[in-house]
Amino acid sequence: MSLARTLLLRASRSPWLAEQFRRRAFARRAVRRFMPGEDLGSALDAAADFAVGGIGTVLTSLGERVSSPAEAAAVRDHYLALLAQLRERALPAQVSVKLTHLGLDVEGGAACADHVMALAARAADAGSFLWIDMEESSYVDRTLELFARTRARHAGVGVCLQAYLRRTPADLDRVLALDGAVRLVKGAYSEPPEVAFPKKADTDAAYVTLAERLVDHGARGGGRGGARGGARGGAVPAFGTHDMRLVAQIRERAESLGVPRKAYEFHMLYGIRADEQRLLANGGHAVRVLISYGTAWFPWYMRRLAERPANVWFVLRNLV
Ligand code: FDA
Repeated sequence: MSLARTLLLRASRSPWLAEQFRRRAFARRAVRRFMPGEDLGSALDAAADFAVGGIGTVLTSLGERVSSPAEAAAVRDHYLALLAQLRERALPAQVSVKLTHLGLDVEGGAACADHVMALAARAADAGSFLWIDMEESSYVDRTLELFARTRARHAGVGVCLQAYLRRTPADLDRVLALDGAVRLVKGAYSEPPEVAFPKKADTDAAYVTLAERLVDHGARGGGRGGARGGARGGAVPAFGTHDMRLVAQIRERAESLGVPRKAYEFHMLYGIRADEQRLLANGGHAVRVLISYGTAWFPWYMRRLAERPANVWFVLRNLV
């Protein structure tokens, strides 16, 4: 892992830096590159604009590692209200949550499980779909357990898996056995080498192998666990990447196996590769843009900088 990436990921855990950044207008300006605004209204308006261009969205309220039951309950209530708005506005939008934002660290995580179950039920009612993000490796077991419990009761829920983790091939087997939808990403956190590949090339190679397994599974008719949720919320495997070489490889494999273009999706982050998002959508591919909003953007923003340390220049430009 590069030194810049390591430093940025370490910085992402500093409450002091978070406070400093939040107070600075230049930082708030720089962050706008990756989010349409801090408020939910901006996110919903952006989702509506994407919908006009045939691009779906996934909305997420920024925040993680809450430490009290009241905070976790407030996050649940926020997402319940959001799902009601998606239904009201008939937006082709899904929702993605972090379990530590819903209280995974609070009192053994019991209430977190109830919150996720409530959100999955509301997502089904709204014709939407609930994604569960994957956070640091120490949370993977509990995230997958909670996913399995939710999936047993609700079809419209999927989970993110990270290609950089050495354990992920086995986790993929487990999730596919549950007929669960997977969003495959490379992985955004700082992890020790025993747990995650330290070299980017190894993560990229692991991504290809895992993506091929997902495409092959789709070709055999699997991976459509949540499709019963309806056209707006249907779940198919999602490839969360901006790596256009990987996108091309996935497309080629799917085409060679006769997997229809709408039987899998490409998910990208707001503000990254916008041209490619449109090109893919215009070419008949299913594309979703993940839109983040909220004021707790600091750790998330540091991870975006760490993914491409050249982005730091963008921040400095806003400073001057
Ligand atoms: P890679 O990092 O190789 O980037 C490929 C190219 O994309 C770069 O060369 C650059 O051009 C562009 N690019 C990538 N990141 C950029 C950035 N920040 N700024 C500007 N350009 C950039 N991670 C996680 O651990 N848990 C999760 O739940 C999720 N969820 C998630 C959802 C979605 C929809 C996406 C797209 C990503 C995530 N991630 C995530 C983040 C993921 O793990 C990973 O860190 C980023 O997607 C960057 O990896 P790429 O696959 O884009 O490849």
